[in-house]
Amino acid sequence: MPDIAARETPAPQVSPDNPCPFLRALVAGDYVGGHVVPLPELTKTIGRATGKTGLPGLDADAKIFMVAQMANGIGPFSQLRSLTKGAILDELRNGPLDKHGAGSRILDQHAVVHEDEIARLATFGKDYANPDGGAERGLSASDIKTFMAANFQRAKDEHPPSYAILHFYYPLLMLGEWPVLLDIMGKGEGKDRYLSVAEVRTLFVDRRFPDRIVARLKR
Ligand code: HEM
Repeated sequence: MPDIAARETPAPQVSPDNPCPFLRALVAGDYVGGHVVPLPELTKTIGRATGKTGLPGLDADAKIFMVAQMANGIGPFSQLRSLTKGAILDELRNGPLDKHGAGSRILDQHAVVHEDEIARLATFGKDYANPDGGAERGLSASDIKTFMAANFQRAKDEHPPSYAILHFYYPLLMLGEWPVLLDIMGKGEGKDRYLSVAEVRTLFVDRRFPDRIVARLKR
């Protein structure tokens, strides 16, 4: 018999104004709400996804908290609102973390996925040994570094004066995105640890985490 209650529960909507693939999957999976999420709740949920505990866990939590606190604005009012109420996940676009085209461009400003940009991402990767068997296309930490530099250069070539000013800020923001995604979702060990292109695609297109991350989130 079909589960009527489950069928009648509408799937959570993810706002196009939430441009973060990680947060979009958290909202789509109903791990957090799509609007105002208190910082302790957001930090704890992302912390579960990282699987980190003890000191590394506390360090990761502190970084996530700091990023989330400035996500909707850096003025004193915004900071106070974030601290007391939470991060507004459907109002992240055009906020301080939005790099306006200096990222992968897999999601456009309407949150439409661009497959050609996923194909471009794959060109920065190699075939790595999959711990589950066989080989698959992925990006290691050093592939990701090259990818991020190319993304920044592409945007800078299009808008030379404004991107020159953002020379330190945008690359700094990028360090909290793809390298952290590799840290959380990577497969394999050491310098051969890689971010699977197929899993990146599922994250962006289906807004779904791999089962091993879902298992951590459900703990
Ligand atoms: C550990 C948790 C997180 C991971 C792994 C992560 C990962 C990413 C990745 C891979 C991107 C895509 C960048 C691109 O397309 O080049 C991104 C974008 C973004 N993330 Fe996250 N993120 C995390 C947490 C957060 C948090 C807590 C916030 C704010 C509350 C946030 C806000 C954003 C925003 C605004 C963008 C869009 C940046 C742009 O388009 O330039 N993220 N994130």
